Amino acid sequence: MPSIMITGASSGIGKALAFELAKRGYSLALTARSGDRLEQIRKDIVFIHNPPAVAVRSLDVTDYDDVFKAVNEMARELGGLDIVFANAGIGLGERVGRGDFEKIRRTVQVNLMGAMATVDAAAAYFLEKGKGHIVGTSSVAAFRGMPRNSAYSASKAGFAVYLETVRVELLRKNIHVTVLYPGYIDTPLNQMLKRRPFLISPEKGAGIIAQLIEKKVKSSTVPVYPWNIVGRLMKMAPASLVARM
Ligand SMILES: NC(=O)c1ccc[n+]([C@@H]2O[C@H](COP(=O)([O-])OP(=O)(O)OC[C@H]3O[C@@H](n4cnc5c(N)ncnc54)[C@H](OP(=O)(O)O)[C@@H]3O)[C@@H](O)[C@H]2O)c1
Repeated sequence: MPSIMITGASSGIGKALAFELAKRGYSLALTARSGDRLEQIRKDIVFIHNPPAVAVRSLDVTDYDDVFKAVNEMARELGGLDIVFANAGIGLGERVGRGDFEKIRRTVQVNLMGAMATVDAAAAYFLEKGKGHIVGTSSVAAFRGMPRNSAYSASKAGFAVYLETVRVELLRKNIHVTVLYPGYIDTPLNQMLKRRPFLISPEKGAGIIAQLIEKKVKSSTVPVYPWNIVGRLMKMAPASLVARM
């Protein structure tokens, strides 16, 4: 069975995906800043699903040098990695021109720079290995910038375009690239929002993501429907409607 490294595995989507893939027999390398939470998750996964291997490691994706070390360490510990999932992310609810620039800087550092470092480290490892699969979490906010989430939307749009470029650059290198565009999944990231249309549980999201990864799709919304249609409509919606979202 394949082995996967997941960033942001201590909560939400990353954590739920770890349980889902453990159930499917994957070997797991789980990273996040919170080593304690990862250790508890490791114990729970081993107790419930007992997959071939579960390695955990503290990693702040804004410590860019450490991201490269972590990919190589996790690969050594699991005897090789087949998939790297750049999933770690934050949503701080930043506003424009209201003294939120620190939130904006942090959002870009984690969601864009940290994610790009993860992908770059994965690509270096997979190029050497001669094959691999890179998966990254964008968002439906990449389709149309959301008010009070300007830097978040920009970071997710930037990361999606980056991943599309990585796919082209690595064409014929036997490295697949999957870009995920989740809608609203019930995690701490968005629990403060008043409206979360088409909300699904992390477990449901993880099941869908596992299928998309196994099919090696190039890109997909999560869930596929209705966001594949809503995403297109979002691009056409007038600014007055988006302002109310
Ligand atoms: N939930 C949604 O509806 C939704 C929709 C679209 C896209 N997404 C994206 O999905 C991804 C996962 O989000 P989630 O909803 O599962 O949120 P979450 O429950 O808040 O989980 C975020 C994860 O990222 C980790 N993280 C945060 N900052 C980090 C850093 N500097 N370095 C390393 N890890 C860091 C957190 O762990 P530590 O705090 O322990 O580091 C945590 O494991 C994010 O990229 C998010 O933007 C979510």
